[in-house]
Amino acid sequence: MTDLIDTIIPEKIPQHIAIIMDGNGRWANEKGQERLFGHSSGVKSVREAIKTAIELGVRYITLYAFSRENWNRPKQEVDGLMDLLILSIANEIEEFNENGVRLLTIGDINNLPENCMLSINDAVSRTSENSKLTLILAVNYSSKWEITQAVKTITESVNNSELAITEITENLIQRHLSTNSIPDPELLIRTSGEYRISNFLLWQIAYTELYFTEILWPDFRRNDFIQAVIEYQNRERRFGLLSTQIDSKI
Ligand code: IPE
Ligand code: IPE
Ligand code: MG
Repeated sequence: MTDLIDTIIPEKIPQHIAIIMDGNGRWANEKGQERLFGHSSGVKSVREAIKTAIELGVRYITLYAFSRENWNRPKQEVDGLMDLLILSIANEIEEFNENGVRLLTIGDINNLPENCMLSINDAVSRTSENSKLTLILAVNYSSKWEITQAVKTITESVNNSELAITEITENLIQRHLSTNSIPDPELLIRTSGEYRISNFLLWQIAYTELYFTEILWPDFRRNDFIQAVIEYQNRERRFGLLSTQIDSKI
């Protein structure tokens, strides 16, 4: 039997894939279950995405796990999500180390419940030597918040005369974002048939290829991940140039 992976062009693997993991609640509702059952079922899809990323040779994967806006959901769901995060990290850390997965986070981690913050920081430090795949969890993250933080820090430096306004470049702004050590994603996947970005990586996705699928996150499997990469490989990334310029590699 042929494997979908055989269709992949090895030279065109995106080095960074970002995913908006959406549709857990609807998946559970369809089954007559509580929303939290959808979230816990989504953990399997996370594991599969990580495994497939490693299999393909992807170097960075960013997963949108909890937005700043998600605090406004019912307390029971928010509490359940925080508990699930702690539990999942505890369950996965050994496998991260076996598979060379380094964990990083973006977002306002210091303002998470203390036990959650401690478990994340512990996992980050315990996986810091791994180098096969960097898994970036976006937790308590929103892009407008991140950009606002960068503006504040840069303005402070200008006020203290440490920085001249002429030194404010795109590169300097990039270095003040929480993703400063991470290349921009080439591919962004959103599941569940919603066609929006929901405050995720607004700066970083300036030239990212967007891939939307109707599949709800808990149903997202290896072949769905590979399919998204195949679609990415069929896109022409022009960066403002003409097709003819790209063909002749000008
Ligand atoms: C995504 O699934 C997970 C989080 C936002 C934490 P949702 O919980 O948004 O599921 P739907 O979109 O309501 O189906
Ligand atoms: C985006 O999903 C956030 C995460 C996946 C963590 P949401 O379900 O919160 O997004 P909206 O509200 O539908 O835009
Ligand atoms: Mg949603």
